[in-house]
Amino acid sequence: MGKELITRVKGVKDILPAQSIRWLEVESLARLLFSTYNYQEIRLPVFEKTEVFARSIGETSDIVEKEMYTFQDRGGESLTLRPEGTASMVRAYVENSLYGRGGVQKYYYLGPMFRAERPQAGRFRQFHQIGAEVFGSDDPAVDAETILLLVTFLTGVGVGGLEVRLNSLGCPACRPSYRAALTAFLQTRLTRLCDNCRGRIGRNPLRALDCKSPSCQEAVKDAPVIGDHLCEGCRTHFGRVRALLESQQVAYALDPRLVRGLDYYTRTAFEVTSSRLGAQNAIAGGGRYNGLVEEFGGPPTSAIGFAVGIERLITLLEGGPDLEHAPDVFVVGAGESVLVDDKVFEVAQNLRVAGIFADRAFGGGKLKNQMKKADKSGAMVTVIVGDDELTKNVATVRIMKTGEQHSVPFDELAQWLSEFVNNEEQFEDDDFDG
Ligand code: HAM
Repeated sequence: MGKELITRVKGVKDILPAQSIRWLEVESLARLLFSTYNYQEIRLPVFEKTEVFARSIGETSDIVEKEMYTFQDRGGESLTLRPEGTASMVRAYVENSLYGRGGVQKYYYLGPMFRAERPQAGRFRQFHQIGAEVFGSDDPAVDAETILLLVTFLTGVGVGGLEVRLNSLGCPACRPSYRAALTAFLQTRLTRLCDNCRGRIGRNPLRALDCKSPSCQEAVKDAPVIGDHLCEGCRTHFGRVRALLESQQVAYALDPRLVRGLDYYTRTAFEVTSSRLGAQNAIAGGGRYNGLVEEFGGPPTSAIGFAVGIERLITLLEGGPDLEHAPDVFVVGAGESVLVDDKVFEVAQNLRVAGIFADRAFGGGKLKNQMKKADKSGAMVTVIVGDDELTKNVATVRIMKTGEQHSVPFDELAQWLSEFVNNEEQFEDDDFDG
């Protein structure tokens, strides 16, 4: 009997090559598109001091209350695997004095996040985000540009059936009056709220609007909405964001109950959902957080951002053609001769150095078996090396699709194959463009 299997941890996934190729495409497109909006990549640590998240996401949020992977390191310090990227981004912005560069600054990041949620379809304990954050301007055009980037990205990778939901969460000037109105309303519905929401009314009544418990959702149906409490500044700001989105035909729905699961938001908040996902239907979310940089000890700095959940995005792309990676060229050696084996080793290396995607057969053997391996590799060309080829100092090059064969001197092989592969790819692209 074999040894007992060691399995992966609950709620995490292996991303196998058939999928990772799609991940690579999505990430490449993000990098390219975000660069066109003048974003730069920032790489942040995956763990931080626990207070980075506790201070920003909010003591009463589900994430901080029950979903963080927090542990003591060997020195007894409390550390946490990042449940999201914004808090780390703000910590890095302040710690590295990035505000000293002046002007508006735009950063993006890609990577794993960790939340100890109950795993289900679309909900993982390690998941991945592509996030974007803009610092240094409260101009509503930044809000609209940020949402536009998100929508352009999602449509660009091929996600359909999107809905953008939008709200304004007010600012420290107008939120208190809304909090008071909401608290008074919730007090009249106490018995219908879940224990959790009842317990946090005093500290954060807004959480009840976001609670998934059916009785809470029922109880807050007629709750006062923040839109009726916005101050003049917030109302004007929100109006301008909406007008700019409309000028670019970005369809959105106003959702006065959208409060988001993180406490740092001010003014604009948004979520993108897809009807094609199940219960976990949010692909992306974000908003403004004008107070957070100061909270971390930096100068007053307006900021806004969003994060896309890559797993959910990839789910929406599934069902498309299978993407498989194949080498362009496969090298085989016929027979058991060491000289042939040496030549195969040399040819494969030379091709790779010349920038050709090449692989080779291992283990020697009859040409027929070697050719089966070549076929299985999916390569468009096979280079055959045998005793005959060695004597004549030429390789046999077989075009797999047509079966036609050419004799090419070894020292011209890389050049010959580069031209062939480039021509083929050009031809395929032309064909694809119609
Ligand atoms: P969030 O809404 O918590 O926002 O997460 C953003 C996206 O990450 C979600 O819409 C979802 O697609 C994905 N996501 C979250 N949790 C999970 C999970 N357990 N499994 C799979 N996917 C998940 C934030 O994280 C904010 N930092 C966004 C932001 C950036 N706000 C301002 N700047």
